[in-house]
Parts: sequence; structure tokens; C-alpha cells
Amino acid sequence: MQDLDFEFRVSSPFFPLMDAHLAQLFDFLRFPSVSTDPARADDVSACGEWLYGKFVSIGLFAEVHGTPGHPVIFARSQPRAGRPTVLIYGHYDVQPADPLDLWTSPPFEPSLADGIITARGAADNKGQIMAHVLGVEAALAAGGELPVNVLFVVEGEEEIGSPNLGAFLAQRGEELRCDVVVISDSTMIAPGVPTLTYGLRGIGCVEVRVTGPAVDLHSGIYGGAVQNPITALARLLATLHDPEGRIAIPGFYDAVEPLRDWERNAWSALPLTDARLLEITGSPALAGEPGYTSLERMWARPTVEINGIGGGYQGEGTKTVIPHSAFAKLTFRLVPGQKALEAIRQVAGHLRENAAPGVHVEVVEGHHGDPYITDPLSGFGKAAQRALAATFQREVAVIREGGSIPIVQSFKEILGVDTLLLGLALPDCRAHSPNENFPVANFEAGIRLNQALLREIGCPQNELANLRGGEKIAGNDPNPP
Ligand code: BES
Ligand code: MN
Repeated sequence: MQDLDFEFRVSSPFFPLMDAHLAQLFDFLRFPSVSTDPARADDVSACGEWLYGKFVSIGLFAEVHGTPGHPVIFARSQPRAGRPTVLIYGHYDVQPADPLDLWTSPPFEPSLADGIITARGAADNKGQIMAHVLGVEAALAAGGELPVNVLFVVEGEEEIGSPNLGAFLAQRGEELRCDVVVISDSTMIAPGVPTLTYGLRGIGCVEVRVTGPAVDLHSGIYGGAVQNPITALARLLATLHDPEGRIAIPGFYDAVEPLRDWERNAWSALPLTDARLLEITGSPALAGEPGYTSLERMWARPTVEINGIGGGYQGEGTKTVIPHSAFAKLTFRLVPGQKALEAIRQVAGHLRENAAPGVHVEVVEGHHGDPYITDPLSGFGKAAQRALAATFQREVAVIREGGSIPIVQSFKEILGVDTLLLGLALPDCRAHSPNENFPVANFEAGIRLNQALLREIGCPQNELANLRGGEKIAGNDPNPP
């Protein structure tokens, strides 16, 4: 294969196997499987077909499940009675690559330098899917049999809110019956620190459109006599937060469950410091809700974010107009206790009620997903911690995270099972940003982690009854996990 960094090649003990593994990951990364872009629909399907071919080639039963959107790739091992069933979930779609000029190498031509793979999708989520697939391939090649029954569900619509995956789960529930879900689509707290994530924030999306005059007007002739839609939008958006940074939508915090003492204590000792956050984000200062640390703000408190705003003249120089309309795209992150549909209702109601006179405000509701929290000390949680510790030879960090994987709560509601989130992306992986990256070391560790985890779950001594049970962390249990 080309693009392979010489330093890495000579220093890695894993060649020639890693060479072949990387070549496959690079093939996977070359598909521009951008789910939100209708012009890329064929690339998304082609990427799914490629993955289907890979599943078949390692001896799994596989299927391309068509949906009204992008296909779900479903694969399973030869079922063996009496063994636990593990459902491995991931997504082969990616976020758009723009702004393209900020990439140091083209986003869909993966490059490798200093042991770091750079490509759109490397860390979110193709690197981790390939690690899972190669782990299962290695286990099958070594012994011919897996310690557990494996199901793979890899969708092509995660980055657009999984609009068709719930129907797939409901339709195929019988075949998807499993004991636990495993996902590697979260982060590691720091390089080399194995991390188990037991909570994710939920998400809700709305777009607000403000319209004023029937057409763009001369701002000298009419300015002062009609409401400017961008001014009205700016004032409206400013009502979302109070001056200190709290969300000012009435009732938004009502259902929020407070952080537990053991979480606040445990998180204060984690290696992701404010100084490191300043470095990673490049922001001049950290900011947020008073009374909470940065990790608490990111992992356990809700937010309302403005993701995009538009309207009026955007070209060179000046143009003296009062624009006909303006819009903003908003998403909010939700924490345990909150319900995404209720939050959308609150935000949309607030925007409609606070519109300035002289404009029309329309609120379009988008996709949503509920937050998720589980017990890191359940039998499965402990099995995951053992597999992580064995793979990285380090003490495991047990955290929540701010990102959302909406289908995780649906796995709980539709299939009745919990999810183990074992992150491999680093905090500075630049997911959704230019120069998204994933270290080869994490890819390689992911292949070993998959095997260690399936062995732990399949181990006869850790029988199912024990795996399912747990030390429920009640209310404000002060004991750290
Ligand atoms: N992998 C991320 C979610 C994630 C990132 C979880 C970091 C934990 C830590 C996932 O692909 C993602 O980006 N999800 C979207 C949600 C979706 C509905 C657009 C997100 O969180 O913005
Ligand atoms: Mn993502």
C-alpha cells in the first residue's frame, strides 16, 4: 500500500499484519459516505456494500438491509446455544468534510504520519468498526469459534439522527435478541487511558426562521420603519441564556437529575484538565453554567447551542439592505431526567413566544434522541473494565460524555439491553472537524480489546446471571464505582 510512513513501518512489531489491517481501513475510509448530503447517497451505499463484503469474507452471515434512507449492514456469527449474544453497533456514515481548505491532506485520501491516521471518519467511526471486525476475524481465524454469539449492526445514518434504525430494531427484534450491546464510538479520556463511558447526553434539534418584508428592501429608504429580521433573530437568540450562562428557557432544568457526589469526586481527579481543554479547543477561555466544572458542564448538564446562523448579504463589501429573512439552527444536549420531545416542545414554545413584533417566527422541529445512563458496576460493566484494564495495562477511567448516540437509549427501550461504551478516539481526534485523526496504536488496541471483551463476556465463570446483575448505584450513593 502507498501512504505508509517509513518510521512507523520499521518500528512496529505488528507488521506485516498491521500493514494488511491498515490497507483495509484505508479502503473503508476512501468512501465519502456523507449521510447528510443527497449528492453522496451512492457513495454511502457503496461503502455499506464494501462492509457487507468484508463481513462475508470473514465467514459471517451478512445482509444489506435497505431502508427509505441509507442501508443498515447486519451480520451475525453461526449461533451457538448457551453462549451470550453480543450486539456490536457502529456507523459507517460520516459528517461532511468542509471546510476543505483547512485539511492538511484530502479528507477521503487517508494519510499516515507519525503513527496517526488522518481522514474523515478515521475516529468517527470507521477506525473502531474495522477494529471490531478485525478482532472477530482474528478470533475466528485462531480458534474457528467465537466465545460469544456476535451480531453486527452498522448503520449509515447515525450522523443524521438514525431516522430508520428504530424501525429496523422493532421489525427485526427477534433476530436481534441479545444480552448486551457494545459500541466503540466515544472517546478515551487521554492517550493510553482505558475508558468506560456510562452516560451520554441526549439531543434535540430545531431550526428557527424569521421573516420580515416580502423582499429585501433598500435600508436607506425603508430603514427605521420596518423590523429587521436579523436584529429580531439576534434578540430572540439572546433570550436563550441569562448573562451568566444558564439556560433561560422556563422549566428547562426542571427534570434534570443532579450529579451524584461520587461522580463529582471521581471526575475532579481525571487527567482531562481545564488547561488541556484550552489547548484542545483553542478557545481563549472556558465558559459555561456557573457552579459546575468543565467536565460537569460537558457530561452532566444540559446545553442549548446555536450551530449555524444566516441571512442577509454575505458577499464582499457592503450592501445596504434590510433582508427578507434570517434563520438559525439550534441543537440542545440533554441529561438524565430530561426527555428529548419535551425539551423540543419547551424550546420551540419559548422561541415562538419571544418573537419581536413585526416579523414572523417559524420553528421547524428536527430529530432527537433521549439521554442514556447505566451502571458501570453491572456484571457487564465490570467485564468491560477487566477487558479494558487487560488491554491497556492501566487503571480504567469511568466517565460520562457529552456527545450523543441516540440509538443507545432505543436499544434499552426496544431490545431491553444495556450498552457498554468503550471509547478509542482521543479528545483531540477532531471528529466533525478538519484533520480528523486516529492513532494506529488505538486501532491496534481496539482489535485486541474486541477479543478481550468477547472472551470476558463468553467466559463460563462469568455466567450470564452474574453478568446481568450489578451493584445498582442508587440515588446519591457516595461510593465511587
Ligand atoms: N461518536 C459520536 C458521539 C460521541 C462523541 C459520543 C464523543 C461520545 C463522545 C457520534 O457519531 C455523533 O457525533 N453523534 C451526534 C449525534 C447525532 C444525532 C447527530 C452528536 O453527538 O452530535
Ligand atoms: Mn459523529
